[in-house]
Amino acid sequence: MKTQVGIVGAGPAGLTLAVLLQGAGIDCVVLENRSREYVEKRVRAGLLEHNTVELLHAIGVADRLNREGLEHHGIYLRRQGQTLHVPMTELTGRRITIYGQQEVVKDLIAAFLERGGRLRFEVSDVRVEAVNSSNPRISYTEGRQAQELECDVIAGCDGFHGVCRAAIPDEIRTEYEFVYPFSWLGILAEAEPATDELIYSWHEHGFSLYSMRSSQVSRLYIQVGNDERLEEWPDERIWEELQLRHASEGWRVNEGPIFERGVTPMRSFVAEPLRYGRLFLAGDAAHIVPPTGAKGLNLAVNDVRLLAAGLVQWYGTGSSERLDDYSDTALRRVWRAQDFSNYMTQLLHKLDGGEFQQQLQLSRLEYLSRSRAAACSLAENYVGLPAQPDF
Ligand code: FAD
Ligand code: DHB
Repeated sequence: MKTQVGIVGAGPAGLTLAVLLQGAGIDCVVLENRSREYVEKRVRAGLLEHNTVELLHAIGVADRLNREGLEHHGIYLRRQGQTLHVPMTELTGRRITIYGQQEVVKDLIAAFLERGGRLRFEVSDVRVEAVNSSNPRISYTEGRQAQELECDVIAGCDGFHGVCRAAIPDEIRTEYEFVYPFSWLGILAEAEPATDELIYSWHEHGFSLYSMRSSQVSRLYIQVGNDERLEEWPDERIWEELQLRHASEGWRVNEGPIFERGVTPMRSFVAEPLRYGRLFLAGDAAHIVPPTGAKGLNLAVNDVRLLAAGLVQWYGTGSSERLDDYSDTALRRVWRAQDFSNYMTQLLHKLDGGEFQQQLQLSRLEYLSRSRAAACSLAENYVGLPAQPDF
């Protein structure tokens, strides 16, 4: 098989790139090692930045997002029963939207296939080859058949545990990593959210986040230790801890049947550069942020927006200027998001530094409540800076 762009991975990065290229008349094939059902049910992110929503609109996959997405204009920061509202839209003119990542994935798959896209699920043994030549290939197994996809370019959108990143030789690749000594336990519950906007709560026991998916479904997270197992968290313990960490006078978290639960470790990671020859990395394949800043999916979408613009220029005019700039341009936003995600994580989680660190956290939270400049800085990072103007 032959194509112009071979895309490894059907997550938000790979699928958004596929729909962008399809719209520009550039042929591509997406290879995914999981089943369609699996990727459409994988519960992860929920918060879309202004830029991400605009891009999904621009590529014509936002009909359901328009109907079902929840538009928010701020967040709450809570500590010791006190709640501070950060009015994002008032401070930045930009908004945030709550819409589950698996819904974005469903919409992208449906649009790509309807428009005639080639997407292969459940392939195995994926390997990228000759990426530093002008004839890169992806070899894989489909059914029991060994297959080869000849490409002009390969996009490695295969997430943190994928195979593409390792195709950049060790002597060229630099990796930066920080692993946090805690994780998030996340649940979905059939319970009407008791809040109109997200609540990020600081508590002596640890961080908790109150999010949602609809008027009937709550999405909640609590900080837990890295070695804790789900079995140690029966429903009663989860609700008890959520009530305690989100406590505010005269108000309670609405409880209901829990129908999904999982534990996510927290990591900051960047691999540089994002390009080696004809291989381009995008999304979690190249970088991971702790989820506190809600940046992972949004960064993945930003990467492929830049990559698609580079490919359109290259195929359209023969100039590789934007492709040559891709790694540096994308990494500027990645490092901004790394810093912000780290800041939000350090601001709100129970850390190892004891009471001294707690006092610093409380002082920073108070500063946010008293300084418009501080709140503005948090807000513009949270909603995401406007897209780089040169792309
Ligand atoms: P992935 O979604 O990991 O997709 C990679 C795809 O490649 C997968 O489908 C995988 O099956 C496939 N694959 C892997 N290996 C291979 C292979 N060898 N061959 C073929 N296919 C392969 N981000 C936000 O922006 N906002 C949030 O609110 C937010 N909250 C989060 C909450 C949680 C609990 C978690 C876990 C994450 C959250 N994130 C959030 C992060 C976000 O989910 C990820 O950053 C996002 O999924 C990255 O998309 P991606 O396409 O790069 O990678
Ligand atoms: C959600 C997840 C996040 O990590 C976050 O910061 C905000 C919202 C969510 O899943 O809704």
